[in-house]
Amino acid sequence: MQTKKMASNNERVNPQVQSQTLRRKKIMKYSLYAAAFVVFQTIVITAIALTVMRIKNPKFRLRNTVVEDIVYSSNTSTTSFGMRIHAEVTVENTNFGNFSFENSTVTFAYGGNTVGEVFIARARARARSTRKIDVMVDVSSNNVSSNSNLGSDLNSGRLMLTSHGRLNGRVQVMKLIKKRKSAQMNCTMGVNLMEREIDDLNCD
Ligand SMILES: *[C@@H]1O[C@H](CO)[C@@H](O)[C@H](O)[C@H]1NC(C)=O
Ligand SMILES: *[C@@H]1O[C@H](CO)[C@@H](O)[C@H](O)[C@H]1NC(C)=O
Ligand SMILES: *[C@@H]1O[C@H](CO)[C@@H](O)[C@H](O)[C@H]1NC(C)=O
Ligand SMILES: *[C@@H]1O[C@H](CO)[C@@H](O)[C@H](O)[C@H]1NC(C)=O
Ligand SMILES: *[C@@H]1O[C@H](CO)[C@@H](O)[C@H](O)[C@H]1NC(C)=O
Repeated sequence: MQTKKMASNNERVNPQVQSQTLRRKKIMKYSLYAAAFVVFQTIVITAIALTVMRIKNPKFRLRNTVVEDIVYSSNTSTTSFGMRIHAEVTVENTNFGNFSFENSTVTFAYGGNTVGEVFIARARARARSTRKIDVMVDVSSNNVSSNSNLGSDLNSGRLMLTSHGRLNGRVQVMKLIKKRKSAQMNCTMGVNLMEREIDDLNCD
């Protein structure tokens, strides 16, 4: 329609040449659309690859620690301590898929000796969310070797404890991608014996 109209308005131009020019313009226009679409799609796919598909290890941490029933003694015959720690264990899953983990334990240690353990039951941390698990662990120096510097630590009023754990599991994104991942806990905490509290908690 438009071709005809333009040709009649402009008699001197060869109608065939006119329609060829128009066709070329049309082809160029659609090529441009196609190119823009390809670029757009590449950006979208890259964005998805960099976010949704990139599966990271969840973070496994300890927080909100509360100490109760602290007992300790440090004299010539006994050097020992005991306490109960209430805490929140968190599994922070930033992936776009659930993280299902297996049964595990978190170990508390003093100077490399295990002083307490707590069981973490298998569960699921939902996509892009943090699972919180309340735990209670009884800690005691029963297993601490006698040649440690426990005596001087107790006299200084400050004990450094560590907690370690590992959750093995897998992240599943959109039913099709499953990937084995693990979350590792590595925390240190300072127990202030006078204040009867953990005043310095750090997790990697
Ligand atoms: C050492 O401390 C423990 C517990 O506090 C106490 O039972 C014991 O009598 C003390 N021993 C000495 C020699 O003071
Ligand atoms: C993720 O977990 C929730 C429940 O916690 C469940 O309803 C959902 O179907 C799970 N999604 C996948 C992809 O497994
Ligand atoms: C995980 O722990 C539960 C108890 O909470 C137990 O019943 C189950 O058998 C354990 N699963 C594995 C695979 O050990
Ligand atoms: C710690 O000591 C208890 C007994 O008080 C024992 O049952 C346990 O196996 C010991 N744990 C380690 C890691 O040595
Ligand atoms: C845990 O912490 C200790 C000391 O801070 C460090 O040597 C170790 O490499 C850490 N492990 C992990 C898995 O981060």
